[in-house]
Amino acid sequence: MQDCYCCCCNNKKKNLVLLGLSGSDQLAQEIAGFLKIKVSELALKRFADGEIFVKVKSSVRGKNVFLIKSTSPPVNDNLLELLITIDALKRASAKTINLVVPYYGYARQDRKESGREAITSKLVADLLTKSGADRLLTFELHSPQIQGFFDIPVDDLRATYGFIDTLIKEQKNDSYRDVVFVSPDLGGIRRARRYAKFLGAKIAVIDKIRKKINESKTTFILGEVKNKICYLVDDILDTGGTIINAIKLLRKKKNKAKKIFVIITHALFSGNSLAKFKELLEKGEIEKLFITNTIPLAAKFETFNDKYLKIVSVGKFIADIIKAIINDFSLTEVYNKKVSGVIQKLFELKKNKDFLKK
Ligand code: R5P
Repeated sequence: MQDCYCCCCNNKKKNLVLLGLSGSDQLAQEIAGFLKIKVSELALKRFADGEIFVKVKSSVRGKNVFLIKSTSPPVNDNLLELLITIDALKRASAKTINLVVPYYGYARQDRKESGREAITSKLVADLLTKSGADRLLTFELHSPQIQGFFDIPVDDLRATYGFIDTLIKEQKNDSYRDVVFVSPDLGGIRRARRYAKFLGAKIAVIDKIRKKINESKTTFILGEVKNKICYLVDDILDTGGTIINAIKLLRKKKNKAKKIFVIITHALFSGNSLAKFKELLEKGEIEKLFITNTIPLAAKFETFNDKYLKIVSVGKFIADIIKAIINDFSLTEVYNKKVSGVIQKLFELKKNKDFLKK
């Protein structure tokens, strides 16, 4: 979508307010840059006992507010900060409150695995909606069905196109026939298929058994991975256990993948997992890590060498979606443009249109 400065778009821009809450302020600045607006100011303070205090510094009366905030660690504090800010905006008569939650915490608790458990992801949806949110933009929900936990519009955006764009630029592969996108569990098979379909590559899936919270084991792989270039794709990396077990399986003699890359949308990297991945990269067990900035991560990855890590920003995509929303344009068209942009790059790389038909 072109930047438009006609009188109606300018009015819409005047009615647009962008706020970045703690941790997501850098992403908010990036989005504001693309939208050519300023991030509005907030006062965020703590009482001595830890209670959160929020005050929006300028008027939001009658404005369409976009609030950027991932509910990443510390999850509970971040969630409450978001809820309190929504309440402040509602009481300040904002026209619409649009949440941009690039990482939706608690997404994994989307069902009862056994008796007497909570479905916390539905509870969070209720809390956000009851507080006054009118819309949610997010990335790669753990399961797309979470959209149905909300009675407001939810856009579950994909990180796929940004990653594929980067792979094409970085890897300069002119053929994806030796490439396999591997899902580390059955739940992620559709995600792996999305990548593979786009590039004309194959998929494989690993059988993962979750023993208890944050502990899993892998049993076998379905699909051909021997001597293949494998891209392990997952939505979340938390303790790293899922991906590390998948790497071990891919490196076993009978599977022996040629090269292993890892693609993660929400790079939580809890505990000492980052150190473990650094070691795997340095030992050449994996080639490179591709992640997004849905989780604030600048400090964590400071010491990472560029050859081991690529951070794909979601900022431009979010800005394009916000532009479409405030102008009542179709979001599908924003997607379609992204897709055709990537296809064009593939064409240029191959200089042979027949490649995509094969
Ligand atoms: C779960 O099904 C998710 O898709 C991820 O595979 C999981 O959350 C990763 O967690 P961890 O890194 O702790 O294994």
